Amino acid sequence: MPFRYYRADRIREKMPRYKGTDEELQEAINDISLLYNSAIKEMETKLQILSDDFDKKYSYMPIHHIQSRLKSFESILEKAVRYGIEDPLNNIDRIKREILDIAGVRVVCNYEEDLHTMSGLLLSQEDVQLIRMKDYCDNPKESGYRSLHMVVAVPVYLVRRKKIVPVEIQFRSIAMDAWASLEHELRYKNKGDLSQEIVNALKECAQDLHEVDERMSRIRHHVLNNESEYSNY
Ligand code: GTP
Ligand code: MG
Repeated sequence: MPFRYYRADRIREKMPRYKGTDEELQEAINDISLLYNSAIKEMETKLQILSDDFDKKYSYMPIHHIQSRLKSFESILEKAVRYGIEDPLNNIDRIKREILDIAGVRVVCNYEEDLHTMSGLLLSQEDVQLIRMKDYCDNPKESGYRSLHMVVAVPVYLVRRKKIVPVEIQFRSIAMDAWASLEHELRYKNKGDLSQEIVNALKECAQDLHEVDERMSRIRHHVLNNESEYSNY
């Protein structure tokens, strides 16, 4: 459990206004770790099962790979302050209500159409509740970033309680993911400060990759039409 590395006494040094005891703070940190890690596992299992069933039915696996991360406790506190929660350690319940990407799952699919298939299948499950959806495929961000983001809530069953926990899922095609990873790397290397020329060049790359995505999809459909065993979906 990653949060075991967050020691309450050290976090407290940075947030002297915290009113509770170190034990209470450690309990809150461990609670977040357990709940959100569990929600990630639930979501990964759901996605894996869908992928396995696709493979069984159509001999095709729409998911190329899945990456998950639990937001670090420092990042949670930093984002909370950015969201106007001035005293985050005394407002952990508010953090849980307002910071919706503590648990993050990135689903990289082969083709753009797979994003819609997989997100639709997930949303049709009765224990998956949609909280928010941002479609940056149809409406790319100013940077050129494309992806389908949604926040869904899933139940996590613990010893004597059931908690509904939000998970942010980013659905991307391989091409969208390649662009986002490289762009993020370049931005990070340059401490977020890229010249307008570079920003424009990256935006053009995003557009080129989008066209490649569409061309690959057309090629795929052409191949599928000639291969009767794959043409069922
Ligand atoms: P955050 O505080 O960043 O979580 O903002 P938000 O809650 O408004 O979420 P948003 O919909 O902007 O999505 C944020 C996440 O999407 C980031 O953590 C990145 O993983 C990804 N993302 C959004 N924009 C870009 C971009 O321009 N480039 C890259 N590489 N990733 C992006
Ligand atoms: Mg985020």
